[in-house]
Amino acid sequence: MKILIINGPNLNMLGIREPEIYGRETYSMLCDKISEYSFEKGFYCEIFQSNHEGDLVDKIQQAYGKFDGIVINPAAYTHTSIALYDALKSVGIPTIEVHISDVTKREEFRQISYVRPACEKTIMGHGTNGYLEAIDYLMDTGERK
Ligand code: DQA
Repeated sequence: MKILIINGPNLNMLGIREPEIYGRETYSMLCDKISEYSFEKGFYCEIFQSNHEGDLVDKIQQAYGKFDGIVINPAAYTHTSIALYDALKSVGIPTIEVHISDVTKREEFRQISYVRPACEKTIMGHGTNGYLEAIDYLMDTGERK
């Protein structure tokens, strides 16, 4: 199983950025956690982060034919990007939307997710463990297919 993990803008600032919301775990700690999980569970994974919408679109397009699942935290682009929605629909790869915080309990402008209709499931408010839960879901459903 090949899983692509995509992180949007400002997630590289984890640990520094609003720790009361996002916690003290740094981005590199998150990457290590996912890599260790891939070793333990025996799946291949690639982790990608960008602050640029077009780079995220390019990465989703390049996943076509190469990855069996995508875990995406589009960060602020969740609430603005039809381009990311279109890219996910274009490739048709099973995708899980992840948010570290529980966006339902936050500002009004975070209540819309443009990517959600292109995703099989959304996991939010579970901190960085949400990424591992998303991976588990993809592996379980992937095995059943
Ligand atoms: C986030 C929530 C978004 O609203 C925000 O713009 C982020 C991070 C989360 O992981 O909780 O950058 O996606």
